[in-house]
Amino acid sequence: MTALLAAERIEAGYGDSRAVAGVSLAVEPGEVLALVGANGAGKSTLLRVLAGAHRPDAGRVLLHGDDVTQVRDFERNRLGVSLVPEGRRLFASLTVRDNLEIGAGSRRTGTWTVDTVVDALPMLGDLLERNASQLSGGQQQAVAIGRGLMSNPEVLLLDEVSLGLAPIVIDELYASLAAVRRGGLGIVLVEQDLERTVAVADRIACMLEGHAVLEGTPATLTRAQITDAYFGHEVASW
Ligand SMILES: Nc1ncnc2c1ncn2[C@@H]1O[C@H](COP(=O)(O)OP(=O)(O)O)[C@@H](O)[C@H]1O
Ligand SMILES: [Mg+2]
Repeated sequence: MTALLAAERIEAGYGDSRAVAGVSLAVEPGEVLALVGANGAGKSTLLRVLAGAHRPDAGRVLLHGDDVTQVRDFERNRLGVSLVPEGRRLFASLTVRDNLEIGAGSRRTGTWTVDTVVDALPMLGDLLERNASQLSGGQQQAVAIGRGLMSNPEVLLLDEVSLGLAPIVIDELYASLAAVRRGGLGIVLVEQDLERTVAVADRIACMLEGHAVLEGTPATLTRAQITDAYFGHEVASW
């Protein structure tokens, strides 16, 4: 079967330093693939490669089996890949509505509009005319996710969307994601919190120092396997 989005033996880095070393993965429609690993493992670099925001040194990215490795981020967004980057990156002086509209960018047709985004992320309902700079961290993160949906993607790449947020806000964001994936969206999720990862993911891939070291479903992987892969054997064997 052809995957929705696949990475094949991706090598990527910065100058001479290798951040991603031969990683392959694939996500299917309606599936949540969680990417876990310590800081510096290469998760964000891999997501940027998938989104076309970082050019890999080797390997291929396939969308519905088509090679999109050389397709730049704006064009890849038009093809259905949307990245919600680490750190939100909203336009602080623009309203929530304008930030969402910017996400529509390539204007793919689909169900996502400002109204349906607010239905999925109810915390944004009363905030549409506020400036992004006036929002709390959780509200900003909801805008960033909503902006990612506005292009009507087939696959959404979420980089640490819950970083720094209160647990109750994270609960709300994750509840929204559950609704969103029912529409068939494929999601690749980077999340530091292993409890949440295990709860939400259909499959988990662990990265360690640029390598994919473990992959499986939450049902088949033990907690010890995941933490071993996460921290490396040196630490885990203490
Ligand atoms: N813009 C950059 N310039 C140079 N090195 C970077 C840059 N971004 C990340 N790195 C390095 O690449 C490696 C992987 O980083 P990253 O992909 O951000 O990992 P993660 O998201 O898992 O924390 C790290 O060693 C990091 O220091
Ligand atoms: Mg990162």
